[in-house]
Amino acid sequence: MIRVDKLRKEFGHGFERAVVLDGLDLNVETREISAVVGPSGAGKSTLAQCVTLLERPTSGSVIVNGESLSELSERELRVARRRIGTIFQSDGLFSRRTAAANVALPLEYLGVTAAESRRRVNELLDRVGLADKAKHYPHQLSGGQRQRVGIARALALRPTVLLSDEATSGLDPEATVSIVELLKELRDDLDLSILFITHEMDTVLQIADSVSRLDHGRIVESGKVLDLLADPSSKLGRALQPRRSHQPAPEGATVWAVTYGSDPVPSDWAGLLAERLDTTVSLLGASIETLRGTTTGHATIAVATAHHDLVDAELRILGLDAARANDSSSSGTATTAAGASATPPQIRESVDA
Ligand SMILES: Nc1ncnc2c1ncn2[C@@H]1O[C@H](COP(=O)(O)OP(=O)(O)OP(=O)(O)O)[C@@H](O)[C@H]1O
Ligand SMILES: [Mg+2]
Repeated sequence: MIRVDKLRKEFGHGFERAVVLDGLDLNVETREISAVVGPSGAGKSTLAQCVTLLERPTSGSVIVNGESLSELSERELRVARRRIGTIFQSDGLFSRRTAAANVALPLEYLGVTAAESRRRVNELLDRVGLADKAKHYPHQLSGGQRQRVGIARALALRPTVLLSDEATSGLDPEATVSIVELLKELRDDLDLSILFITHEMDTVLQIADSVSRLDHGRIVESGKVLDLLADPSSKLGRALQPRRSHQPAPEGATVWAVTYGSDPVPSDWAGLLAERLDTTVSLLGASIETLRGTTTGHATIAVATAHHDLVDAELRILGLDAARANDSSSSGTATTAAGASATPPQIRESVDA
């Protein structure tokens, strides 16, 4: 468990003083992957550095597994840090050491016997799917494999908390998915709390249970990923699942933007709506995913009736949140003009069942 309370970090003094973290609160529970997103310079890496106390916070507290790190002596802190594993964008492997020797490094520092270290390294490499690569040097491994060695090394001292700073940035989509799947397995198998810093919204959607947006040193929005996606007014929800462009509406129809809420929605909702209203409903565009068994997303539809109250009521009965996007299909209205495109609606099925 990680608990960050009113964390403030300033660099420099006097005119040079810069407030990088400005009273930041953040919790990561056990068995939770909590993502932090935000623009470059927002303070994400500084946050990670403060959680390990490699950077001393100016004020505020960092509590890991119930222990307030800022109150520890340097010696106690060194011990506490063993329970915090870190992985970074650059894998930080030693090029002259094999994968196995890289993973063994933290064990060597602790003076673990050679036999015990070998046993543990084999177990760790097996855990990250690299049992057959123990003797390979970093340059003989792919980026994704090197990152797995880094993860194995971070796990060597059996941490309860894992910090990941852009660990999947720069990897291709396939390697990213495999690292994401590995981290989710580790969260469940080892009861880890994972703080996952990234600028990739797609990765947040795949990996995170909750997400916070950091801007100018403050958390400006946060919540469970599924709640944010179901909330049409959430900026973060929209950033996670941006509205795609959609086809133009047929003449005379009304365009509606609908959002999946927290209640289950029947999969043939558009057909049911057409039936109940006895009119034509066309799907103009959609971005729909199944995340952890819950369907989330939004769609743009055209409904050939002017009985707006009725459409609104029926959509709500179906479990959808709705807003009228324009009053007719005539070109020039904001939604259709911006969204007009010949591409068919896309319905994305997620990898994460
Ligand atoms: N040691 C330092 N001394 C002075 N300023 C620093 C120091 N470390 C970070 N900063 C400043 O703190 C701000 C936040 O930096 P940080 O690296 O935390 O951003 P970030 O959100 O991780 O950005 P990115 O997405 O580019 O990695 C930046 O303006 C940076 O210049
Ligand atoms: Mg950074």
